[in-house]
Amino acid sequence: MKKYKIGITVGVFDLFHVGHLNLFERCKSMCDYLIVAVCQDDYVTQIKNKVPVVPAAERMRICAALKCVDEVIPVTIEETADKMLLLSNHPFDVLFSGDDWKGSDRYKLTEEQFAPLGVHIEYLPYTQGISTSKLKEIIEKNK
Ligand code: CTP
Repeated sequence: MKKYKIGITVGVFDLFHVGHLNLFERCKSMCDYLIVAVCQDDYVTQIKNKVPVVPAAERMRICAALKCVDEVIPVTIEETADKMLLLSNHPFDVLFSGDDWKGSDRYKLTEEQFAPLGVHIEYLPYTQGISTSKLKEIIEKNK
C-alpha cells in the first residue's frame, strides 16, 4: 500500500534527462496515480526567460510515454504560481517537488495553505550533476 493515492509534480521537463526520470520514479513509488503537470511554452519564455528547446506538446508526449506516469496535464502560469488554484483544478493528495525548492517563499506559503486541507508536500532529492541548463551548456561547448 502506497503512502498517497493521487500525486502531482510540476515542471518544464525540457531536454528530458535522468534527473527528471529519478523524480518521476520516486514520485510513483509513493503514490498510486501520478499526474505530471507540464509548464507550457509561455511559462518558459515569460517566467524563466528562456526559449524551450522542445515544444510543450512534445514534452508532454515524452512524459506520457513513461510507465511511471499515469496522466500528463498542461499547467498554466497562474496554476504554477498559485498551487491552491492547481489543487482546485486538479485535486491531489500530495505535491512532489525537487528539494531545491524546499524553504523557498513560494513553497513555505503553499505548505501553510495545504496543511488545513490535509494535502502534503514531499520534497524529493534533486539529482546532482544534471539539469536542462547543464545539458545546454555541454551542447554549446561542444559545437
Ligand atoms: N529536478 C531534479 N533533479 C534534477 C533536475 C530537476 O529533481 N537534476 C526536478 C526539479 O526539482 C523539479 C523538476 O525536476 O521538481 C522539474 O525541473 P525542471 O526545471 O523542468 O528541470 P531542470 O533540469 O532543473 O531545468 P533548468 O536547468 O532549466 O532549471
